[in-house]
Amino acid sequence: MADALQHPSVPTADIRKIVADLGYPAHWNWCWENYKPTIIELSRSKNLRRHLEIGAGRDPLFLPGEARDLGLDITLNDISAHELSLAPEGYGKMQCDIASAQAPDILGRGQYDLAYCRMVMEHVPDVQAMWKNINAVLAPGGVALSFFPTLYAAPYVLNSLLPEKLSRLILETVFPERKPDGEDPKFPAHYDHCFSSENRLLPMLREAGFSDAVILPFWGTNYFSKFPGVKQLDAAFNRLAERRDWRAVSSFAYVIAVK
Ligand SMILES: C[S@@+](CC[C@H](N)C(=O)[O-])C[C@H]1O[C@@H](n2cnc3c(N)ncnc32)[C@H](O)[C@@H]1O
Repeated sequence: MADALQHPSVPTADIRKIVADLGYPAHWNWCWENYKPTIIELSRSKNLRRHLEIGAGRDPLFLPGEARDLGLDITLNDISAHELSLAPEGYGKMQCDIASAQAPDILGRGQYDLAYCRMVMEHVPDVQAMWKNINAVLAPGGVALSFFPTLYAAPYVLNSLLPEKLSRLILETVFPERKPDGEDPKFPAHYDHCFSSENRLLPMLREAGFSDAVILPFWGTNYFSKFPGVKQLDAAFNRLAERRDWRAVSSFAYVIAVK
């Protein structure tokens, strides 16, 4: 087990500096390319060594060798025993629904310095319960990061309006790797609290016990990459939305919350 957290709290100004030094704000690709560097930098600069990856599934962020080299003690969580069984060995693995009443006791109260998830929040029907549980498993001064798709970007509006069978058929036709036996299967999405607006998220995070949070919006996706014409229109609209800070049509967000 790595040492317990040394710092009573992480100032949000320091979090903003970490992401600014990594190049934020930038094209939407930035959020995919810099999720891991953001976690490494947060972890390194604030000595946050005991990690919990929520909904890690078959594809955890750090391989066991990387975790060792970085001095991280990582526990993987997922609601699905099958997904966890596909992840490499070499970590603690804890199966539970992160929003369930049992999750804090299963995962361990106050046990982690840094808890994070990528493309998981949209699949959780009760996101406030999820954040309360994350708060419970963090040590005092711990930090949580969630990277998720946001409403009302067109692909997610469509996904939330269409029956699951139809949205699955469309996605799997355009992106065959999203089939159930593919590398990146589709999971049903609810989009509870999947917004990049501070007004919508900060009250919920405070209610869940966090003292402060940084919310970073991103615009654009690759969903229209195979549709010439639509792709260019979508890119032009997203550039405009980013310049005007139209949070209601962002596509992704990072929430970095401090206990
Ligand atoms: C889209 S996958 C993302 C997997 C991985 N985080 C990644 O970025 O490749 C969503 C994952 O969240 C898990 N998941 C969904 N709801 C969950 C919940 N309530 N608690 C824990 N894990 C959950 C799914 O089983 C799945 O492995």
